[in-house]
Amino acid sequence: MPVLAVIGSLNVDLTVTTQRFHQPGETITGSTFCTYPGGKGGNQAVAAARLGACVHMVSALGEDDNGAFYQRTLQAEGIHAQTVMEKGGVPTGVALIQVDNQGENRIVVVPGANAQVDSTCVGNALPHISHADMALLQLEIPMDTVLYAAQTLHRQGIPMMLDPAPAQPLPDSLYPLLSYITPNRSELHLLTGLPTDSLDQVKKAAGQLLRRGARAVVAKLGAAGCLYMDEQRCLPVPGFSVQVVDTTAAGDSFNAGLAYALAEGQPMEQALRFANAVGALSTTKAGAQAAMPTLAQVQALLTSTGSP
Ligand code: RIB
Repeated sequence: MPVLAVIGSLNVDLTVTTQRFHQPGETITGSTFCTYPGGKGGNQAVAAARLGACVHMVSALGEDDNGAFYQRTLQAEGIHAQTVMEKGGVPTGVALIQVDNQGENRIVVVPGANAQVDSTCVGNALPHISHADMALLQLEIPMDTVLYAAQTLHRQGIPMMLDPAPAQPLPDSLYPLLSYITPNRSELHLLTGLPTDSLDQVKKAAGQLLRRGARAVVAKLGAAGCLYMDEQRCLPVPGFSVQVVDTTAAGDSFNAGLAYALAEGQPMEQALRFANAVGALSTTKAGAQAAMPTLAQVQALLTSTGSP
């Protein structure tokens, strides 16, 4: 069973659906309101656990109702949460999410306890995660902590996959520590300053991240699938066509699927296709974690489309 460590955020998502996104100063009526467990770290952890990975979560929650709600979620999903700290005097992270009738979203995150995930949290977690096959990182905890975690886990020889989301510039010293960096088009644009509209442009921008030291770039292209690039290979892998309800956490699900498949020993092209399937299935229901698929559901989609 793949063992994965996720070092990142836990948010409670307050999600409304509306017909369309509105203008500044405009009030519109929404259709639904739901409260879901979310956060890029939590979403990657849950997606990986549903596939069957043994997942250790390193994060922080507030001592409030949202924190208690999230603890129950982690327990129900079978995620090891001894390394999730409880922080007094700060709220659990919250995300306000609006989803339109195309399934697209707009998100505002208030980090709360996630801002207190520090080097001490990572240091305390080391005995639990030093045997991980891979570590998954994102950018909803402080950048100093991300860098410290990457340096520490690199010394332990643990491969790392960074989801550079929400998009922000990265320290130069982080790139050489990364086995995989997985930007979407807009994150790739922010990191490189290059256009990323066409596949050729994505390839050029991905090449720049390789030159900064990342060992491989996996550009997430939404419904179009993904593009893998390392020093030897450039592999575009098409996506799956599904009925999209809510794209929230599709990227998180993709990363979990890719980490699971690689940690399981799947060859790269097969792992990328697996990750595309996990990402696509996660968009078929409302909420970040509601549609995250089981291994059987991923295998069913792969089989029905004639994939290995
Ligand atoms: O990637 C989706 C996630 O982004 C949501 O669950 C929300 O919490 C924000 O962190």
